[in-house]
Amino acid sequence: MKIVIAGGTGFIGNELVSHFEKQSHKVLILGRKKINKPNYFIWDGKTVEDWKNELKETDVLINLTGKSVDCRYTEGNKKKIFDSRTNSIKVLEKAFNEIGESPKTWIQASTSTIYRDEYESSNDEENGIIGEGFSVEVAKKWEKTFNEVKLDCKKVTLRMSIVLGKSGGAFPILKRMTKLGFGGKQGVGKQMISWIHIDDLKNIIELAIQNQWINGVINCVSPTPITNEEFMWRLRKRNFLSFGIPTSEKLLKFGAKLIGTEPELILKSRWVSSKKLDKFGYDFIYPTFDKALNVL
Ligand SMILES: NC(=O)c1ccc[n+]([C@@H]2O[C@H](COP(=O)([O-])OP(=O)(O)OC[C@H]3O[C@@H](n4cnc5c(N)ncnc54)[C@H](OP(=O)(O)O)[C@@H]3O)[C@@H](O)[C@H]2O)c1
Repeated sequence: MKIVIAGGTGFIGNELVSHFEKQSHKVLILGRKKINKPNYFIWDGKTVEDWKNELKETDVLINLTGKSVDCRYTEGNKKKIFDSRTNSIKVLEKAFNEIGESPKTWIQASTSTIYRDEYESSNDEENGIIGEGFSVEVAKKWEKTFNEVKLDCKKVTLRMSIVLGKSGGAFPILKRMTKLGFGGKQGVGKQMISWIHIDDLKNIIELAIQNQWINGVINCVSPTPITNEEFMWRLRKRNFLSFGIPTSEKLLKFGAKLIGTEPELILKSRWVSSKKLDKFGYDFIYPTFDKALNVL
C-alpha cells in the first residue's frame, strides 16, 4: 500500500512509519522540519504546494498533525492548537481535490478527551457523554472539520487516550518523575486514566485499514482503565520504589505554570471504553497496565 502520514514526525508518526516500512509498504511523510529523506516532503500544514503531487494513488492517509496540547493555554497557543488541526484537514482535502483523487481510507487523529470529566461510568462510542471546556472544544472542532470532508473515502476517527510508549508521549516523563521520587498520586488520585500501548494503537490502525466494515469513531483505549492513584502505585512498584511524593492539586497547578503546561492534562478524569473494538473482537497485546509496564 501507499501510506501517507501527515504530521508523521512526532511520537506516534515515527512509530507508524517504522511499523509500516517493516511491512514493505510505501510510506510518505509530510512535516515542517527540514529532513533530508527520499520519502519525506515539507509542507506547512495549511497551504497546498508541490507536495500535492506526491499524494497520487494514495491508499491510506493518516493525519496526526496537531500542535502539542502540553503547553500553557494562552490565546496564542489556543489558536495554534485549533488551527494546526483544522487547517491540516482542510489543506489535505484541497490537495486531493486539486489532483482529482481521493485516498481509499483516511484515518484521522482525535482524542478521548472529547468525553466529559468522568467519575461515574465509562464512555463508549455509542453512549459516551461529550464534555465541556477548552480541550473538548478542540476535539469537537477537530472532528467536525473532518466530518465535513467530502472526499470519496472511508473515514476513521481515532479517539486516542494517553498513548504509552518508550519513545515519546507522556509516559517517559511520568517514569522519570517517579524515579526522582515524585511518583505519588496526583491531585485526589481518584481521576481515571484511560490508556493504550502504542503497539495496540498500531494494530488497531492496521485493523481499521484492512477491515472494510470498520469506519467512523473508534475509542482507542485498553479495556482496563485505572485510577491515577493505582497507575502511580503500579508504576512505582515496577520501578521497585516503595514511596512516591504525592502532588496536591494546588502544587500541580503551581508546578504546571512553572514548567509551562496545564494541570487539566493530569487532573481530568478520562474514563473511556470501546464497544467497537469489542464488536470486532480486537485482541489486545497489552490489556492490563502491568502487562504494558513490563515492556515500557
Ligand atoms: N500521544 C498521545 O498520547 C495522544 C493522545 C491523544 C491524541 N493524540 C493526538 O495524536 C496526534 C499525534 O500525537 P503525537 O503524540 O505523535 O504528537 P507529536 O509528537 O506532538 O507530533 C505532532 C505532529 O504534528 C506536527 N505539528 C505540530 N504543530 C504543527 C503545526 N502548527 N502545523 C503543522 N504541523 C504541526 C508535528 O510535525 P512537525 O513539527 O515536524 O511539522 C508532529 O509531526 C496529535 O494530534 C495529538 O494531539 C496524541
